Amino acid sequence: MGSYRPHHHHRGGAMAGLFVLLLPVFFPSLFTPLSHASPSILSEWNTPKPRHSRLLKGALLRETSIEQQSGLWTSLPNQGWKTCKDSGIPSRLPETSEGYIQVFLDGGLNQQRMGICDAVAVAKILNATLFIPYLEINPVWQDSSAFMEIFDVDHFISVLKDEIRIVKELPDEYSWSTREYYATAIRATRIKRAPVRASANWYLENVLPVLQSYGIAAISPFSHRLDFDNMPMEIQRLRCKVNFQALVFVPHIRALGDAIVSRLRYSPSRSEGDNYLREVSGARDEQGAGKFVVLHLRFDKDMAAHSACDFGGGKAEKLALAKYRQVIWQGRVLNSQFTDEELRSQGRCPLTPEEIGLVLAALGFDNNTRLYLASHKVYGGEARISILQNLFPLMEDKKSLASSEERAKIKGKASLLAAVDYYVSMHSDIFVSASPGNMHNAMVGHRTYMNMKTIRPKMALLGPLFLNKTLTWPEFQEAVLEGHKNRQGQIRLRKREQSIYTYPSPDCMCQA
Ligand SMILES: *[C@@H]1O[C@H](CO)[C@@H](O)[C@H](O)[C@H]1NC(C)=O
Ligand SMILES: *[C@@H]1O[C@H](CO)[C@@H](O)[C@H](O)[C@H]1NC(C)=O
Ligand SMILES: *[C@@H]1O[C@H](CO)[C@@H](O)[C@H](O)[C@H]1NC(C)=O
Repeated sequence: MGSYRPHHHHRGGAMAGLFVLLLPVFFPSLFTPLSHASPSILSEWNTPKPRHSRLLKGALLRETSIEQQSGLWTSLPNQGWKTCKDSGIPSRLPETSEGYIQVFLDGGLNQQRMGICDAVAVAKILNATLFIPYLEINPVWQDSSAFMEIFDVDHFISVLKDEIRIVKELPDEYSWSTREYYATAIRATRIKRAPVRASANWYLENVLPVLQSYGIAAISPFSHRLDFDNMPMEIQRLRCKVNFQALVFVPHIRALGDAIVSRLRYSPSRSEGDNYLREVSGARDEQGAGKFVVLHLRFDKDMAAHSACDFGGGKAEKLALAKYRQVIWQGRVLNSQFTDEELRSQGRCPLTPEEIGLVLAALGFDNNTRLYLASHKVYGGEARISILQNLFPLMEDKKSLASSEERAKIKGKASLLAAVDYYVSMHSDIFVSASPGNMHNAMVGHRTYMNMKTIRPKMALLGPLFLNKTLTWPEFQEAVLEGHKNRQGQIRLRKREQSIYTYPSPDCMCQA
């Protein structure tokens, strides 16, 4: 008798869960940003409308000169820097190992990537053996994929075999050293207080003794725990070697990426009749033929809420974002002390799909541009994406270019989805990101290393431009072109405190 109600409740919960699980099946369009769907029925916005309709009209009627187009797609000239043939420093594997280094990495894929590079460097500083880094599950992305499910672990070990020892498994005598072991009590082998940007000496003074006493040291937290300055050249070069050579994705990610890249380059898409296709490919024979640009658009609820900006979804959206901020960050969001106008005038709001579309149009990308959208979820869904798609009808993404069978292995796994986008982005002619963030920085760094074109939107210019309600399309276009002349992949040398993973020159590159 007494157990009846709880049991009933439990069943109710299970049923609700089932309904949530089945939702994508009933309303597939809710979850596919590119499908042509009616607006969400669970809407918490008034359907977002274009906020810059004047500019949008100009952009839709834009005419791009051939010169402008060809200038846009040409690859970068030699800039005097190249990848180094070898590290320039003879690599030596330490004769004996001082013990095992274990790290636990937070964040999304790109933050974890930097953590992996730093872990190799710390193991080298200490002459230790590195245990394959453990990737924590991120509360937002919720992906439990392990290192070996994302990166080719044998390649990783083999590329670094002359520099450090790396093991996939701890020897039996250390098998107790697990995440659970460290989560349940204070442990002598856990290094808990590594300062942000710690020096090499800090590790020698604080971690080496632990290794020498116990044979193992587990460092957590470890993100951003190694300085970018005052490091021996050998260590800097090693960090770059990890990032740019040792870390490659598992074969199935690369295969899917290659399929997407080749479909972007060679196959006509979204066929709307033969005439149309002939027209498009005719135009593409001249400029930008077979080329594509990747737009990284992170515009999810998390980011929209954290920015504290107003994105035009009306009162309902404002309330929903404020509530999200309250729940996740308990009001500790610095930006929420400012008005939307203040934030925008300082360039502190992520560009919406509409805004980045206007920027791309102003830069000279015409409506035959093959645009690949590297994006997880777009807050506001179809309505926000459709404004961008009007400007760039040949817009594609993973879902439009690969079948669900091809995507089966990465389905619902944020890190693997991000890995595919990373791979496609590295193969694009041009990369641009709608907001500065980890993906943007990772691409700026990796593409600088390969001397590939990357457009860096100048937020401090664009914010005020979008606030100006009297600006005409030609004025907007001129200001955008002028402001981005030197933001398309020109090498910028790393300054003190900047990351070598974003600015690999000069530390990681050699003079040509
Ligand atoms: C690491 O090994 C090298 C020689 O291989 C040695 O010069 C260096 O002092 C060692 N460092 C530590 C921390 O053991
Ligand atoms: C691009 O714009 C031109 C002129 O505005 C138009 O004729 C053409 O149909 C558009 N192409 C696509 C793919 O929408
Ligand atoms: C808006 O842009 C126009 C044209 O460039 C300029 O004359 C005007 O001062 C700007 N207005 C504001 C408020 O910045």
